[in-house]
Amino acid sequence: MLRYASEDALLKPDFDVLVIGGGAAGLYTSLLLPQACRVGLVTKDTLSLSASGWAQGGIAAVIDPGDSTALHIADTMAAGVGLCDPVAVKFLVEQAPRHIAKLVEMGVAFDRYGEQLALTLEAAHSRRRVLHAADATGRELVSTLTAQVLARSNIQILNQTLVLDLWQHEGRCQGVCLVESQHLPLKPRWLSARAVILATGGGGQLYARTTNPPPSTGDGVAMAWRVGALLQDLEFMQFHPTALSVPGAPRFLISEAVRGEGAHLLDAAGERFAFAYHPLGELAPRDVVSRAIFTHLQQTQPNNSNATVFLDLRSIPRTTVEHRFPNILRVCQQWGVDPLTQAIPVTPAAHYWMGGIVTNLQGATTVPGLYAIGETASTGVHGANRLASNSLLECLVFGAEVAEAVITEPTPTHLTPPQSLELTPTDGPSPVAEIRQELPYLLWRTAGLSRNGADLSQGLDQVEAWQAAASPFFSSSQGLPKAPELRTALETHNLLDVSYLLLKSALYRTESRGAHFRQDYPDSQVSWQVHTLVQGQVWQQGKLGVDLPV
Ligand code: SIN
Repeated sequence: MLRYASEDALLKPDFDVLVIGGGAAGLYTSLLLPQACRVGLVTKDTLSLSASGWAQGGIAAVIDPGDSTALHIADTMAAGVGLCDPVAVKFLVEQAPRHIAKLVEMGVAFDRYGEQLALTLEAAHSRRRVLHAADATGRELVSTLTAQVLARSNIQILNQTLVLDLWQHEGRCQGVCLVESQHLPLKPRWLSARAVILATGGGGQLYARTTNPPPSTGDGVAMAWRVGALLQDLEFMQFHPTALSVPGAPRFLISEAVRGEGAHLLDAAGERFAFAYHPLGELAPRDVVSRAIFTHLQQTQPNNSNATVFLDLRSIPRTTVEHRFPNILRVCQQWGVDPLTQAIPVTPAAHYWMGGIVTNLQGATTVPGLYAIGETASTGVHGANRLASNSLLECLVFGAEVAEAVITEPTPTHLTPPQSLELTPTDGPSPVAEIRQELPYLLWRTAGLSRNGADLSQGLDQVEAWQAAASPFFSSSQGLPKAPELRTALETHNLLDVSYLLLKSALYRTESRGAHFRQDYPDSQVSWQVHTLVQGQVWQQGKLGVDLPV
């Protein structure tokens, strides 16, 4: 626990609901809460920086008359390789068109063919059902929602505000402890609310190669774990097959929609190889394509850890590329690759965390007063491998449910902050910055696309050693560090906790399924068609869609 002393630390309960995270899930939920509800929307950065904002592909929904909910459900379940909860998937798919209509009403400018909403194809979808706004759908969605949030007088944005931990009293979550990093001197404050909604996104920053933005450090999952919430399926980290791989460039996502429009994967010899691994070739589910790239590179270039494959867009008409993928074109050209004349070097990168905080269909966790939505939550809709463009959809569908559910929560009555707030001086140089640097390389090496028990154990030992070395720096200090250092300490604390959980969960699941591939257990087992449940230090199997004590 990060513990800080504080005088005058309790903010009056000025909020009914605290939403932690300013991506699509947090924004949409905030907007759907009644105007009479006082909402505090807390974000580490500013509202413009979130994984949702970086989403390219789009939002899946059954809009076309030639499509059906049964097909969208079947595609989602097939991609999830036996671990999707059927009730949750059905709910997600059935609610989708209603929320698309709402977004259109709110002004989200999806691409159209004439009057009709334009639909593209992405991997493992049997129909064209992905709505998009060129190749920056997330940006269009988030900017529209942000404009509406800013116009709402009942929503107060707490920008550049770090949540240190959840505030729990007698088992109930009744607020958070936070620091507003732009207000110096830094001062931790306890903020109470009837409900806290975690919408903090995923944990891509666990890995050296990720398509996620810097704030994706698993904060919500770590905080929920520390107050005893039930978590599940943390071993399932999805690796997107095609991230830009140019020295010095970020692992910029090259959307799956590019393959949906006809781009091919080539190896260094210029050969298409994806069909050797799956009959759907480049349009096989994401976990299959990522592993095909990994395996192909190991077979063809075993001694080159920087080897890449190539995504060739030249079979797509130039005008389509320019019209549909302007952002991808611009970023690639900025890094010296012109997709109109050459294939783009790409590799897999950590993209989406299927596991998270267990919730019911209303977003409630096992901790009263605590809710989770979006990538932070595990509603059961993604199983072992998420179907493309179901993630923004999940934010909308379950965000709306949470907005209805939280207003029935009681007002907290016990408003004395915990007594354990103390500052204890710590001597010696802090290892935190170095751990923050090295941790993503450790996870990439030991808990990446293809894992084994020995590597996972080695990763776990190292993480436990780092937790021991760094814990004095999380639990005490001469005073609050300056804002950037505080953020590094807080994020490293959370990253170490979620690394521990991911590694232990990956060791626990002795089979291969979806995004979790074990070289030492390469087959799926019927006996493992269950969730990996985690609570505190207890790991156990949980049946799908039943028995969850939520
Ligand atoms: C993509 O555009 O390939 C990513 C979309 C998604 O993650 O669903």
